[in-house]
Amino acid sequence: MPIQQTFAIIKPDAVASGQTGQIVSMIEKAGFRIRGMKMTRLSKQQAEGFYEIHREKPFFGGLVMFMTEGPVVVLVLERDNAIKHWRDVMGATNPANAAEGTIRKSFAKNIERNAVHGSDAPETAAVEIPFFFSMAELL
Ligand code: RTP
Ligand code: MG
Repeated sequence: MPIQQTFAIIKPDAVASGQTGQIVSMIEKAGFRIRGMKMTRLSKQQAEGFYEIHREKPFFGGLVMFMTEGPVVVLVLERDNAIKHWRDVMGATNPANAAEGTIRKSFAKNIERNAVHGSDAPETAAVEIPFFFSMAELL
């Protein structure tokens, strides 16, 4: 599998709980090279745009409120098979179903406040990375 990039967010629940450092450490231990990383706070418009695919879902309003409630850390991660590998390290969306040792098993509070985001396909990563990073910011 060739080198691939994926997009990650450390969500407001995990940043507010002081888990940023532990999650970054888990990312590095899992063999990812961090190509971009910054703290930001999403506007309502940004959160709605980022999760546009979920606009019709019943949880959309709550998701936008959650994602804008405080700062997040956005990252671009690189390794072989990065997209699938990062989804595996994150664990299942609902922490009740997440495997032991995954980030969501360790840190997620519930199915919504679930600590991290990861791109789900190459086409998604190709949209999500430039949503937050210019080419000059990827090192
Ligand atoms: P993400 O996009 O954040 O990486 O998460 P995911 O692929 O594992 O899950 P997805 O289905 O894309 O859902 C996006 C985010 O919406 C929130 N959610 N809440 N209340 C609910 O039933 C519910 N379902 C999903 C979670 O924050 C989820 O990560
Ligand atoms: Mg998703």
